[in-house]
Amino acid sequence: MADQAEKLREMMRQKNDQQDGSPAKKNTDKNSRQTRIITVTSGKGGVGKTNISVNMALAYARLGKKVVVMDADLGLANVNVMLNMIPKFNLYHVIRNQKTMQEIIQQTEYGIRIVAGASGFSKIANLTEEERQNFIEELNTLSDADIIIIDTSAGVSSNVLDFIAAADDAVIVTTPEPTAITDAYGIIKIIATEIDSLNMGLKLVVNRVKTVMEAKKVADRMTTIAGQFLNLKVDYLGFIYDDPAVSQAVLRQRPFMVVDPKCKASQCIQHIVGRMEKSDLRDSGGFGNMIRRLFGRT
Ligand SMILES: Nc1ncnc2c1ncn2[C@@H]1O[C@H](COP(=O)(O)OP(=O)(O)O)[C@@H](O)[C@H]1O
Ligand SMILES: [Mg+2]
Repeated sequence: MADQAEKLREMMRQKNDQQDGSPAKKNTDKNSRQTRIITVTSGKGGVGKTNISVNMALAYARLGKKVVVMDADLGLANVNVMLNMIPKFNLYHVIRNQKTMQEIIQQTEYGIRIVAGASGFSKIANLTEEERQNFIEELNTLSDADIIIIDTSAGVSSNVLDFIAAADDAVIVTTPEPTAITDAYGIIKIIATEIDSLNMGLKLVVNRVKTVMEAKKVADRMTTIAGQFLNLKVDYLGFIYDDPAVSQAVLRQRPFMVVDPKCKASQCIQHIVGRMEKSDLRDSGGFGNMIRRLFGRT
């Protein structure tokens, strides 16, 4: 097993060296040198993860970033539905070596690319050695992206934790509802206990708020509890107003950032991405390391 892992690492190192060697990719700007991987997650379902993933992706695209949204919600093809796209193939076909990542990745009319989730595979740990290798090789082809946003399912499956462990930032989404807050705290606690050497940025977004104060109260409570009881630093990234433009856009299967770029929710998303951009991207060793972390947990 250790040998296998070492072989994969060696393969990744070679890939990275090749990529770093190409003059077109050389970039001295610290923050844009590597792919930033952001997971969007929550304890409770229906709190706005998919909307936040897709619309954050659009806000990043407007800043000139190359963005990929990966749907890791293995149950429902949320991202596709939200963008009115029907994927023929998904990650499952990549893992089974039936398709390449470049064949399944879909360009959207909004300037972002999406990768459809796989409802057929349950756990990265259950992949055969060959399937893992396919997956690793194919994930590598996404390293030209500046930002990869992974929309996860609610709650904690092993896959969700795998993706969180591999990411640079985990954005935890809650609403002010007491059940959503309790579940968000639950997932933070699991992240704290299940993922060793947690050195990612844990970030909180409070969605569907009526007032700035309401959001601040929720955020204060959560960040304080996480600090006191879990000794974990959770940064309050921002809030999003409860805004009818969101559900209207969902019904039209278009992102609210496109349907109504000036609506309250769109402005909030832009603030959130602005704050993300200001927050440090720890030097995580680049894309190869992300993949190592993704498979290191299995
Ligand atoms: N800021 C918001 N304002 C109004 N409605 C919202 C907002 N965020 C989410 N919603 C509603 O909640 C529903 C679920 O959002 P979604 O992004 O699919 O959640 P999740 O991915 O967490 O399950 C949306 O279809 C929308 O109707
Ligand atoms: Mg969703």
